[in-house]
Amino acid sequence: REIGTSSRVGALKVEATAQMEGFTVKSVPTKPIEGQKTGTSGLRKKTKVFTSEHYLANWIQSLFNALGDEAKGKTIGLGGDGRYFNKEAVQIILKLAAGNGIKKVVVGQNAIMATPAMSALIRRRSMYGGLIMSASHNPGGPEEDWGIKFNYSSGEPAPEKITDKIFGFTQSIGELKVADIPDVDLSKVGTSKFGSFEVEVVDYTAEYFATLKEVFDFPALRKFMTRADFSFVFDALHAVTGAYAGPLFVNELGGKPDSIRNGVPLEDFGGGHPDPNLTYAHDLVELMWSDKAPVFGAASDGDGDRNMVLGSHFFVTPSDSVAIIAANAQAAIPYFKSGLKGVARSMPTSGALDRVAEKLSLPFYETPTGWKFFGNLMDADRCSICGEESFGTGADHVREKDGLWAVLAWLAILAHKNKDVPEGGKFVSVKDIVMEHWKQFGRNFYSRYDYEGVESDKADAMIQHLETVIAAAKKGDKFGDYVLETADNFTYTDPIDGSVAKNQGIRFVFQDGSRIIFRLSGTGSAGATIRLYIEAYTADPALFEKDAQDVLKSIIGTALEVSKLQHFTGRDKPTVIT
Ligand code: G6P
Ligand code: ZN
Repeated sequence: REIGTSSRVGALKVEATAQMEGFTVKSVPTKPIEGQKTGTSGLRKKTKVFTSEHYLANWIQSLFNALGDEAKGKTIGLGGDGRYFNKEAVQIILKLAAGNGIKKVVVGQNAIMATPAMSALIRRRSMYGGLIMSASHNPGGPEEDWGIKFNYSSGEPAPEKITDKIFGFTQSIGELKVADIPDVDLSKVGTSKFGSFEVEVVDYTAEYFATLKEVFDFPALRKFMTRADFSFVFDALHAVTGAYAGPLFVNELGGKPDSIRNGVPLEDFGGGHPDPNLTYAHDLVELMWSDKAPVFGAASDGDGDRNMVLGSHFFVTPSDSVAIIAANAQAAIPYFKSGLKGVARSMPTSGALDRVAEKLSLPFYETPTGWKFFGNLMDADRCSICGEESFGTGADHVREKDGLWAVLAWLAILAHKNKDVPEGGKFVSVKDIVMEHWKQFGRNFYSRYDYEGVESDKADAMIQHLETVIAAAKKGDKFGDYVLETADNFTYTDPIDGSVAKNQGIRFVFQDGSRIIFRLSGTGSAGATIRLYIEAYTADPALFEKDAQDVLKSIIGTALEVSKLQHFTGRDKPTVIT
């Protein structure tokens, strides 16, 4: 069904237009625009850049050019995190989809679709792929950020072979194929037909909740949620999970309506940073450390893939969270009742998960930073649960990290631990669960220091210096109080396809399992962000309640000394500590 070549639809290429079945396709001339380099998280820029002439259309056309004939006649999904410009973008994308021979687009009502929900939608409907309009946890609005990414047929972010091709086409593009169809009303669920092209506006919760119901026992969670001695708060940070939280936690699970905070998605996220961490989810943090603190608190990010889990006066680090979910999954979550296939974490994530894998004799994988590395393992049935220190936790029910899944996993664990505790009895809290876990496995004290906006050449010089340090380092060398086991720049060989990812972070691993890791962020927007990850392990229960910053003080000092960070960057303190 190439435009102008199909005899079935009798298309006729007349100069700049072509006829599809039921509508005309205009050929709109365009020119390449610089800087449309696409990564696995798609393309992220200032909103103003995206709204400038043809910017979005050029990228979308390049995507369809990259997909080629393979995508013609197929169905794709479309939706986003509710940020400014998403609704206008949908109309542009629909016209290009029709113009490029896509058969059908399934759009979330009001252009809403959380990232894990899109992954579920693609998988459940066996769609060709889906487009997610989001810049994740970056602020939204006319002066802030916008973004778009393409997910492929198993619901995973497009692999590099596709994103590289898209970038290639952005550099040579000369024509947009735009269908002459009217704008579609996104406010109503239902199907619109434009000749051979169809748009179905869907309830964005339907497929996602169907998937979550296959993972969790909703009636059991409902029973737990409505216990008088349980209290809960979820902070959607005015981002996409606001559109899911009410239907999920209130309607499905019986939570109180006022347990949802900042639950209306806003185009500018209320002016905030929709990033669930101790810095940006400050309202929630304040509540959880107040005397009105509920038993359990959680938050998610712009597009609903990240999560933060809190107990009353207690923060669960993402590294501990994935370990604790993995340790309890089989007993607490029906989807895992026959056990886990394996577990995985990114290299800078703490070793807490490693200890669970060892005890449960599970296959274990250490991958570079980035969710895409988990997808291959999951497709090959090697990994059930995985997580990253960067507030990402998930499982093989979808191919994205999943914020609401993580919250439900914690609810399921709480429900399980309290199943024999009568209402009013000794309730097992989030902190109790974590303390019990540490008693069994030991505690990996963990912290991350971010140095944002460092000049790139200075950051590179520091990494160069570290390369010379690791080249000279030998097993048994003393670094401060620590004795070296190995030092290297992390390389990952994918066990499924054999592909090799090099230079994934400088790491010093010490003989007691403590680690110092340096890497440059792959997601920053201005200059370079140096991330320093520090981890120290203890099995001594007397230390478990100590503050991580106190326990890590000496190893952090060693890290700063070894890297000469201040000498290279001029920074005497990090911009963010998590
Ligand atoms: C995104 C990715 C994650 C990654 C995180 C931090 O959320 O999806 O996989 O861990 O960014 O990446 P960075 O390179 O900035 O440390
Ligand atoms: Zn996100």
